[in-house]
Amino acid sequence: MTRRQEIEQAIVALETQRALLGDQVVETSLAALRQQLTEINRPEPAASPHQAERKQVTVMFADISGFTAMSEKLDPEEVRSMINACFERLGEAIDRYDGHIDKFIGDEIMALFGAPITHENDPERALRAALEMVEALEEFNRQHADIIPKPLALHFGINSGLAIAGGIGTRQRQDYSVMGDTVNLAARLEDLSEAGEILVGEATYRLTAPLFEFEALKPIKVKGKAQPVRVYRLLKAKAAPGGQIRGIEGLVSPMVGRVEEFARLHDVFNRLKSGQGGVVSIVGEAGLGKSRLVRELGQVCLQEAQATWVEGRALSYGESASYLVARDVLRNLLGLGLETSSLEGALILRSAVEQLFPDQAADIYPFLAYLLEFNLDSEAAQRIKYLEGEALHQQLLEAVRSYILACTGQSPLVIVWEDLHWADPSSLRLLETLLPSARESALLHLLIYRRPVRDSRIWEFQQKINQLMPAGHQIIELAPLNQAESGQLLDNLLGAEALPNRLKELIIAKAEGNPFYLEEVIRSLIDSQAIVRAPGNGHWMAASGLDKIKLPDSLQGVIMARIDQLDPETKRTLQIASVIGRNFPYQVLARVLDKTAAGQ
Ligand SMILES: Nc1ncnc2c1ncn2[C@@H]1O[C@H](COP(=O)(O)OP(=O)(O)O)[C@@H](O)[C@H]1O
Ligand SMILES: [Mg+2]
Repeated sequence: MTRRQEIEQAIVALETQRALLGDQVVETSLAALRQQLTEINRPEPAASPHQAERKQVTVMFADISGFTAMSEKLDPEEVRSMINACFERLGEAIDRYDGHIDKFIGDEIMALFGAPITHENDPERALRAALEMVEALEEFNRQHADIIPKPLALHFGINSGLAIAGGIGTRQRQDYSVMGDTVNLAARLEDLSEAGEILVGEATYRLTAPLFEFEALKPIKVKGKAQPVRVYRLLKAKAAPGGQIRGIEGLVSPMVGRVEEFARLHDVFNRLKSGQGGVVSIVGEAGLGKSRLVRELGQVCLQEAQATWVEGRALSYGESASYLVARDVLRNLLGLGLETSSLEGALILRSAVEQLFPDQAADIYPFLAYLLEFNLDSEAAQRIKYLEGEALHQQLLEAVRSYILACTGQSPLVIVWEDLHWADPSSLRLLETLLPSARESALLHLLIYRRPVRDSRIWEFQQKINQLMPAGHQIIELAPLNQAESGQLLDNLLGAEALPNRLKELIIAKAEGNPFYLEEVIRSLIDSQAIVRAPGNGHWMAASGLDKIKLPDSLQGVIMARIDQLDPETKRTLQIASVIGRNFPYQVLARVLDKTAAGQ
């Protein structure tokens, strides 16, 4: 068993002891284990000046106000311990989104999202972390109300953009950090923010606008910039579930290509309607259209109304949570919305369980309620209280399995497991126990994930499915769209007559057959007004002759996140190769690598 697997198992085991040990104990131990997991997953940051790199980062400055008032009232040792306790809590929120605490400057925290390690949604992570930090501080204030003279408050400046990342300092003492205009503007925004405010720069705003609510403020003048800079105040996360938001508002296309892949899925679905379940993996890189393909089948399912369709989604920042995806599936199966309270949810669950299991409700309800994190009544709590870790976990799995199988007795059931490459280990274990049932019931699992990197969690999971169901597992692998299909998609989105052929070719080449890339390239051309709607008929047209297309900001994270998964040596090779050009003779690369290795 690898070290990562050991830690993951320990997390699952601990999680199931929650009732016995209490939240406090479990949370503290979990935090330590999660920290270890992140460290295992995190390659070494570039630490020498030679390895400095230009990176797309999101920088957060968070300042705590109220410590001064505190130091007037408490003795220095007390103040110190309060400050540390407070930083500890705020640091947890940053850790949860895999941010990197760059430094503490007095009562200020500087944190990075996207350096040393890039995720594809660093701006989103920074904003979610900031919102959670605000909540954590409120709780901190409540808990220490009797000691602190005045509640502490946070204010933030957050900004995204290119920065130089790497070791900074003298030869003797270097710290990993980032520098550049992006950082300066984030610091400036923090200066401007008032207690409780989270101010973000325009790039952060653009990259996260579909996910959060903002208020636009008056643009500000910044030293060294001719134009005033736009500033937004973050209000809250939108109530829509997490995950990527794709597509461009107002531009739509029917599904292009994917004829054979769709036919295979449709076949499996037809068999489900006649009572035969199955397991299908839909695999491909980010943006190739996995979700879209499955959504098209979902439409068919909805129209025919002969089967039930539910989805559960893994989140990129939810890998260390417990039962996150499984809980999502169960909530959707019960028709619980995001706004459904724990109390209402418990009632709905109870009546659903009683209807399906008139005699055994008391054996099943407590475990499902526990998994869904509902408040347990005393009878249900009693059922769980004396169960030890693994035993509780087994009972949970059994309860979920029984419940889902009972549902398939009422109508064939499709469960879509979205973005499983991010799934938490306990959800994967749960899914694993559900898979074999697909053979004997009207249950179809559609598993969506990116092509597994060797030895990753999802890679091991894929191996396991193949072991569990040597015959019953189909894999549909999505390839990039071909040239003609890409052209078709572009025409569908913008209108066939819209753009000069030369520009179309540039766009298609940049997107490399990836529909998501294609959309993002178009979006960035619209944003930068390189293509505009003609005033009369509203058709799209090129505003100026372009001979080069930049890679949009929104794709940098997706691509860099993949590059950051490579080991340092491969990554370095790739960086050097990219300087030579898109294509290069092997000998040239070998020579350059030799030279740089020798420090020439
Ligand atoms: N075959 C296709 N035809 C038209 N649009 C597509 C196609 N495949 C994907 N898209 C669009 O491209 C974007 C990315 O697809 P998505 O399904 O989200 O990718 P994935 O789930 O593989 O990351 C979405 O807006 C989607 O609607
Ligand atoms: Mg998807």
